[in-house]
Amino acid sequence: MGQVLVAYATRGGTARDIAEAVAVVLRDAGHDVRTADLRASRPPVDGVDLVVVGSGISAGAWYPEATAWLAAVEPKLRSTQVAIFNTCLNAANPAKRDESLAYNRAVADRLKAGPGESFAGRYVPEHVSWWRRLFLRTMQKPTQDHLDLDAVRAWASTLT
Ligand SMILES: Cc1cc2nc3c(=O)[nH]c(=O)nc-3n(C[C@H](O)[C@H](O)[C@H](O)COP(=O)(O)O)c2cc1C
Repeated sequence: MGQVLVAYATRGGTARDIAEAVAVVLRDAGHDVRTADLRASRPPVDGVDLVVVGSGISAGAWYPEATAWLAAVEPKLRSTQVAIFNTCLNAANPAKRDESLAYNRAVADRLKAGPGESFAGRYVPEHVSWWRRLFLRTMQKPTQDHLDLDAVRAWASTLT
């Protein structure tokens, strides 16, 4: 059994739902799993064998609490297995797979981690702040939900 931390940054709840699905898979595999919302806490990584960290994407970037936390803990992660994911709308379009994975690049480079995964997300206007709604309205993005938890579970089962 290993110690696992699944940390996430979310605005609309999608990355949280992904993190919780990952946590269930890893718990079922016998690991001791903690989840952490990076807006609410900055969890320590001491003694953790696997860190799974993910974020929703805004204007091509991970949410700032995720990158700030990673910058703080990165020196302690050099000998820790790390898996990263993002959730975004572009991932719903197979033709935009490279673009969606590229949102992970800055984090992957910093952590010297693999490319990670990008999960098709969702956009529910009522779940995000007014200025984010405005941004998505100007981009003509309607309400949509592409979250595929089976795909998340399949990925999670490859992590240990
Ligand atoms: C203000 C804003 C900007 C976004 N920018 C992007 C983007 O650049 N690329 C993309 O594919 N999706 C973009 N999205 C879609 C989100 O990444 C998607 O809704 C994701 O599932 C949100 O995750 P969360 O619910 O965990 O916050 C944007 C959404 C909002 C509200």
